[in-house]
Amino acid sequence: MTQDGLSQDQLKDAVAAAAIDEIKPWLERGTVLGIGTGSTANRFIDRLARLRDDFKGAVASSEASAERLRSHGIEVFELNSVGTVPYYIDGADEVNAHLHMIKGGGAALTREKIVAACAERFICIADASKRVDRLGEFPLPVEVIPMARSYVARELVKLGADPVYRQGVVTDNGNQIIDCYEFMIDDPVAMEARLNAIVGVVTNGLFAARGADVLLLGGEGGVERLIPV
Ligand code: A5P
Repeated sequence: MTQDGLSQDQLKDAVAAAAIDEIKPWLERGTVLGIGTGSTANRFIDRLARLRDDFKGAVASSEASAERLRSHGIEVFELNSVGTVPYYIDGADEVNAHLHMIKGGGAALTREKIVAACAERFICIADASKRVDRLGEFPLPVEVIPMARSYVARELVKLGADPVYRQGVVTDNGNQIIDCYEFMIDDPVAMEARLNAIVGVVTNGLFAARGADVLLLGGEGGVERLIPV
């Protein structure tokens, strides 16, 4: 609960509503939106359902989001058939003042990063607990090719992380996740590139080279609209 007595769920709802307000004026019959994954994105999807006749459909960053979109009667398209999307709307596990993020708590980081790369604008929706000065308190997810898991873990140790295999999780791409604990990040852009250069890494959960363009942050005083500093 915040001091105003709002729960985290209510804050997620508020930012989902704010994202609808942000995109609604720009929706056209032919618009295909990029949609993220997680509990905040789910709230956005549920609200988007009310506008389903005002746009064409969506590209989803996970099987879970695709299923939720379809359950609301929203058509889901393959990214390859769409090319670019005008907006990508998604949550984050942490976000800093530059709108660099850690994502992947829900293991969807690779598809999230791909759809984000194809988006003209990335709108991040998050409750105020996600806003940090320095990324890394949240364990950074790294998606790995299964046979490379031990090798990648050893490389992550060399970089100062405490890597932990996320047991029992298989990504939508058939891969595994290593979470990097005790890994505070001073230069997210450099670290994102450094981690992606390790053989066997599919991608990592730093979204810095392509951060968000807008952050809708839900807190005690309402929803703040922030742009990168
Ligand atoms: C999914 O893999 C993540 O990147 C989510 O976007 C992130 O974990 C935020 O999720 P919540 O909205 O559930 O906090």
